[in-house]
Amino acid sequence: MAAGLGTRMKSDMAKVLHRVAGRPMVHWVVGAAKSAGATKVVAILGHQYEIVRQSLERAFGSDVVAALQPEQRGTGHAVQCALPAVADEPDDRIIVILTGDAPLLPAERITALVDACAKSDSGMALLSTVPDREMPYGRLVRDERGVLARIVEYPDATPEQRAIKDTNAGFYALRLGHLRKNLKELRADNAKGELYLTDLVAHAYARGGAIAIDVPFAETTGINDRVDLAQVEAAARKRINENWMRAGVTMIDPASTYIDADVGPLGRDVILGANVALRGKTTLGDKVRIDHGAVLTDATVAAETLVKPYSVISEAALGERVEVGPFTHCRPGTRIDEDARLGNFVETKQTHVMAGAKANHLSYLGDASIGQKANIGAGTITCNYDGFQKHRTTIEAGAFIGSDSQLVAPVTVGRDAYVGSGTTVTRDVPRGALALSRVKQVVREGWAAQFREANGKRNKKPGEGEH
Ligand code: UD1
Ligand code: MG
Repeated sequence: MAAGLGTRMKSDMAKVLHRVAGRPMVHWVVGAAKSAGATKVVAILGHQYEIVRQSLERAFGSDVVAALQPEQRGTGHAVQCALPAVADEPDDRIIVILTGDAPLLPAERITALVDACAKSDSGMALLSTVPDREMPYGRLVRDERGVLARIVEYPDATPEQRAIKDTNAGFYALRLGHLRKNLKELRADNAKGELYLTDLVAHAYARGGAIAIDVPFAETTGINDRVDLAQVEAAARKRINENWMRAGVTMIDPASTYIDADVGPLGRDVILGANVALRGKTTLGDKVRIDHGAVLTDATVAAETLVKPYSVISEAALGERVEVGPFTHCRPGTRIDEDARLGNFVETKQTHVMAGAKANHLSYLGDASIGQKANIGAGTITCNYDGFQKHRTTIEAGAFIGSDSQLVAPVTVGRDAYVGSGTTVTRDVPRGALALSRVKQVVREGWAAQFREANGKRNKKPGEGEH
């Protein structure tokens, strides 16, 4: 069920698309259903139907089908709208109904729900929880034998009923036959004027009573506003980090380590410094070390590579034993092969740095190919853009680019060639050659003293009038 608007989010975006650990909250719910073995997932959508549907399609393909609930007339009505999508299924099929805004429910709870439903006479099971604070949840009303008789929604509950500790967490399993029959019998004669899915519990009472499975409140927390969102985010982060630590990842400070839900695999003996963020589909090989403050998005990092502090790596692939940083920026389309090094304030984009090559300081390498063991001096810049088009620079293996050089693309520096410091390379440099474009140096002996004297006569002290 994900048709609601989420008014309290105060957002232009449907609530269920807000992200928890980088993944839209409704994707967590669908993911849990699939991990629990769901053969078909129906997403009941209303607000921003098309946007939410496309988001699910991108992540899950045709495994998820959307059902439209054109107006939100309650959870019972929502499930009515989903019935056509399961029209071909037999009556004894077990249907699980999940809340789209509660992303932390573990798959094992869904499995437990299905098992309880399968074993029960009533053909219905639900998850109950005892919240750690007062929540406006439906209350579980039991008869004198302790059998679950019905759920009273909070707005309809008497003060005595509101005092009941057991509440409805909002997750259910039911035989489809009962669902088909009982949904038709729902009435909106209640405080909210809605069709309550929870009224099906009273129907199940006639068949012996629905089974309630108590689960920790933290697993069932629904998100209504951005305070809830931040709390759930923190809980998700803790869960993700603990899973990775148990899988062999060291975290210097788990509280400041931010790993998106879709990150991984992370290898054995990976070390993550404080304030590290791993986002998107980032993967790390064995013994990779990501030091303080680095941010990696959709990055692939091979074994034993070191990312030094404050580096930013996006849509880039780093080979084995590479070293980058501190303050390196690898932008999309960067590929760094084994044993290569990039140092501080080096930026790369659509660039392939081959094995053993080095660019240790202050460079922009865009749309370039840097051959094996080439050396890129400090301040080297590939001038890849003429205001209209991007052009490529090719630096072949073993070439040496002197400091403060510009390579005006398209241009090639041949194998083992030298480019003298301060050169502006505008034509190809043949293999083994030296390219030099410096102005010849002029030296005037004694010039400095003459200059100072001449200026001093005009009554100025050195530095005066400067800003
Ligand atoms: C519901 C339960 C309540 C339970 C609580 C737990 C009912 C009647 N009550 O109340 O017993 O304690 O969840 O969180 O079910 N939705 C639709 N279409 C609709 C209405 C809702 O898709 O017409 C979706 C919402 O987007 C949301 C979910 O169903 O994902 C729950 O709806 P919500 O309005 O939040 O129900 P609650 O009042 O919280
Ligand atoms: Mg709710």
